[in-house]
Amino acid sequence: MYLGTVGIGLDSYDNVFNAPYHAMVHARMAWFLIVSSVIVLWVASLFKIIHGSYSLPKGTFLNNLKNGGSVNKRNVLFVVAHPDDESMFFTPTINYLTVRGHNVHILCLSIGDADGKGITRKEELYQASAILKVPHQQVSVLDHPNLQDGFGKVWNDSILANIIEEEITRNNIDLIITFDNYGVSGHCNHHDVHYGVRKLLQASSQRKIEAWELVSTNIFRKYSGPVDIWLSSLNPMQSSHEVVHCLLNEQPRKSFLAMAQHSSQWVWFRKLFVAFSSYTYVNTLKKM
Ligand SMILES: *[C@@H]1O[C@H](CO)[C@@H](O)[C@H](O)[C@H]1NC(C)=O
Repeated sequence: MYLGTVGIGLDSYDNVFNAPYHAMVHARMAWFLIVSSVIVLWVASLFKIIHGSYSLPKGTFLNNLKNGGSVNKRNVLFVVAHPDDESMFFTPTINYLTVRGHNVHILCLSIGDADGKGITRKEELYQASAILKVPHQQVSVLDHPNLQDGFGKVWNDSILANIIEEEITRNNIDLIITFDNYGVSGHCNHHDVHYGVRKLLQASSQRKIEAWELVSTNIFRKYSGPVDIWLSSLNPMQSSHEVVHCLLNEQPRKSFLAMAQHSSQWVWFRKLFVAFSSYTYVNTLKKM
């Protein structure tokens, strides 16, 4: 009798006062499961990247063999808008190319002077390029009066096309890599650079210049870090009518090292960006 009463008493106490507690325990369990799944997924993805046992056909991009059996070395020009674009967005592709012995050039169309740090940022680009194994003499940084860094500064596509064309002739470039029309972060200068390259392709259609754009992903994929390797591997299948290549960063540490050379930009939120950005781990390129 006595015990039963206590039992009932406890039960009703439990129901009335502890229901929120149970809900909280469940919510915590759910969070714990979500967070631990994300961690497991991150670790597995990083492992996959570093060990290179990736299900996509490996190294088909620019890996055509010449008659002699050696890889056909290309002169590749990266066309970017600001110092640090190369490290923040294009490191997987730059690493892929330098490891395979291609000749990488960078054309940076502004010194990134929106905050008055342009002169410093130009030097930082040379330091980052050294980390990325791009020789100093293969890096051009422009400070053109009509191509200044900033939102709302429109860059004229004819001027861009002329500048890029000169660079192509000077360095015997046969392939261009640049932003797509969104430009990863949506910066208008990135978008304009894309249209400068488009203009050039239209103008010199008779020349055998090949161009590839870096595909901008949605915000979920953009901040999924290494996990994006699984999502971007679905992408080439979806767009089978387009020529798409998905390149893994074989040395993700290099993205951090290269970005760290941009000391004037290397603030906490960019460190977080580089850790969480899928562009640190994988690049999807589409033929323009
Ligand atoms: C871009 O520049 C060219 C010549 O430099 C000029 O003819 C053209 O009108 C300009 N385009 C725009 C949109 O300002």
